[in-house]
Amino acid sequence: MQIAPSILSADFANLEAELKRIGNAEWAHVDVMDAHFVPNLTLGLPVVESLLKVAPMPLDCHLMIDDPDHWAPKYAEAGAQSVTFHIEAAKDPVKLARALRSAGARASMAIKPGTDFAPYEELLPELDMVLVMTVEPGFGGQSFMADQMPKVRQVREAARKHGGDIWVQVDGGVSAKTIEQCAEAGADVFVAGSAVYGADDAAAAVDELRELAAS
Ligand code: DX5
Ligand code: ZN
Repeated sequence: MQIAPSILSADFANLEAELKRIGNAEWAHVDVMDAHFVPNLTLGLPVVESLLKVAPMPLDCHLMIDDPDHWAPKYAEAGAQSVTFHIEAAKDPVKLARALRSAGARASMAIKPGTDFAPYEELLPELDMVLVMTVEPGFGGQSFMADQMPKVRQVREAARKHGGDIWVQVDGGVSAKTIEQCAEAGADVFVAGSAVYGADDAAAAVDELRELAAS
């Protein structure tokens, strides 16, 4: 069970210190938004390059951008340890996933709440992780969509059938109230933004979430 706090809810003027607040987390989740694939705009490659120099943990880059075929490999080449592209935006997901892996990153595919997983099951051999969104991508602090749990189960079942070590990540509205149902459905990597950075003691929130997920 791994926790990946989203720095979307951190103080963007103090990102190095904000990463240190969550030094006990397995990953830091970095939400890249381009104001095209999603309505919001956050940060891009230059900021990720700087974060990679100071982060005490690996970076899990979630690219909510158009044209990931072009951009996503650049994050892997910069040293991001996990790179997630949205299947809704990818033109050639097999080629893209292979480019991520050959640059040394874990290759991951994200699925929006309205997107079915079944047509993409055949991509599993190319992937190290599948991200099932539990909110519409674009903003932190939204309500958890429990109706995505059947999809988490479906992905977990397909991953089991495939036999590889594929992680299943959930992102959006994950908190002490919602994490157990995600774990029960088969998720093993949990993104939490407001639930971690909104807490007085962010590291304690990370530990609490991990314990709940494992319970
Ligand atoms: C939403 C982002 C999430 C977001 C989660 O588009 O992908 O990573 O930061 O924030 P919370 O945990 O507050 O829902
Ligand atoms: Zn995210």
